[in-house]
Amino acid sequence: MQPTSDASVTTGLGEAVQALLPALERFIRFDDRDLAALEHARWRAALDQPLPERGAGAEATLRVLAEVVIPHGLRTGSPGFAGWVTTMPTVVPAAAGFAASIAAAQRFWRHSGNFLEHVALGWLAQLLGLPASCQGTFNSGGSSANLIALGAARQWACEQRGIDASREGVGALQRPRIYASNQVHHVVHRAAGVLGLGRSAVVALPTDRGFRLDVGALRERLRRDAAAGCTPVAVVASAGTVNTGAVDPIREVLQACRDEGVWLHVDGAYGGFGVLDPEVEPLFDGLREADSVAVDPHKWLAVPLGCGATFVRDASLLGRAFTLEPAEYLEGSARHVEELGSQFDDLGHPFHDFNVEQSARSRGVTVWAALQEIGRDGMRARIVRHDGFARRLEGLVRASPVLELLAPVTLSICCFRYVPQGLAPGPGREQALRALNQEIVRRLHAEHHHVPSSTELDGTFAIRPCYINPRTTAADIDDLAQAVERIGAQAWRETVGTAGAW
Ligand SMILES: Cc1ncc(COP(=O)(O)O)c(C=O)c1O
Repeated sequence: MQPTSDASVTTGLGEAVQALLPALERFIRFDDRDLAALEHARWRAALDQPLPERGAGAEATLRVLAEVVIPHGLRTGSPGFAGWVTTMPTVVPAAAGFAASIAAAQRFWRHSGNFLEHVALGWLAQLLGLPASCQGTFNSGGSSANLIALGAARQWACEQRGIDASREGVGALQRPRIYASNQVHHVVHRAAGVLGLGRSAVVALPTDRGFRLDVGALRERLRRDAAAGCTPVAVVASAGTVNTGAVDPIREVLQACRDEGVWLHVDGAYGGFGVLDPEVEPLFDGLREADSVAVDPHKWLAVPLGCGATFVRDASLLGRAFTLEPAEYLEGSARHVEELGSQFDDLGHPFHDFNVEQSARSRGVTVWAALQEIGRDGMRARIVRHDGFARRLEGLVRASPVLELLAPVTLSICCFRYVPQGLAPGPGREQALRALNQEIVRRLHAEHHHVPSSTELDGTFAIRPCYINPRTTAADIDDLAQAVERIGAQAWRETVGTAGAW
């Protein structure tokens, strides 16, 4: 036998994890400032190394992880982080993710991880109030959850016209269209491209003053397009837009879809679990009857990143759209079932037939762990707390003479800006406010405690914190309002001092 330099350790898991734990524990205390930003040059130089011809060995590799990688990681879980719609997992789902990467490293076959995919999808459907008869599937996040849902919509729209999209493609489809508000997340456009409908198939419809889809405009456009020979593939309602958290009027959109015979998809990647908050639950009326729903456990449920879920009302449709053809080379084929007698003769719940991934770790283990740990009650408490944070900030903004609310607060996003007192109206006003608020966001990020996002609302630059982070506290909300006032005043003084700088 040839001597081997493959010295990867295959035992001693506890020691390896122990070698990392102190660094990880320190990281998630978030006592240090953001070292990734502060020590950028140093850690990049340490990591930007040529491919090693000979391995450094387990100990040295773990040391680099503990000393360089972990301390300079991404602090999306730090209490002041309120950017995008992303956060870090809480501890138990993170541990479950680690466990699944070892004990449920493949989601098919008959084992506990495969079964927990099934259990966790059932629990999610219950959380959302979806019928038990719908078919769910986990995928890598909101992008793929929407892609898979729209793949099902495409299959259905084609079948209505005698075309099997999965087999024949969509070439025969006349001018396909997907309808959504101008606030819809751009993953929908990308999905339309990937599905062969083309990004330009997405029709961006106007919204009302609350950034909710204008259903009158939708109905009008559906009728006009039908007369022009277009094929409606789906209407996408957002249950929590990424910009403001607006929830489209799902019931009315559903009615328009039923009247025109069009598929209703609800993108609840961010806000779908908002249905748990009794105060906003009525806004989700109609969700249960949607043809498909996308949600993202890796957002508000704080499971490790890489976990979205799609639910389709017609349980057999995902299979028709995405099945892998049976293959003799696979366990689970008829021949293997007859000839073998182990867990491998049964592929378990066939989630690999319901989306575009064959192999994947069992993400259901992480979702199961998150819900097993705190239950529906705990998850509801989180959603209510976070929606409450956005309303708390709204109250502070309304009470402040220098802060201005820029959009209604529906879920856990609050969009606002700083407006210095005495700023004269005039042609340069909006430009000055944009520059000032951009500077405020820049300085907030540089201080490292508060990391909100920013966005554009009808051409107005807005500071946009989004609260889905389980580690955020009410004090962080008050601090953010104060920090914006403090930094705004300082930056404005500097601007006035150097008049014309912006
Ligand atoms: C409403 C909405 N849809 C889809 C997505 C895309 O999700 P992901 O980033 O998990 O792919 C997001 C992300 O923020 C979102 O807010």
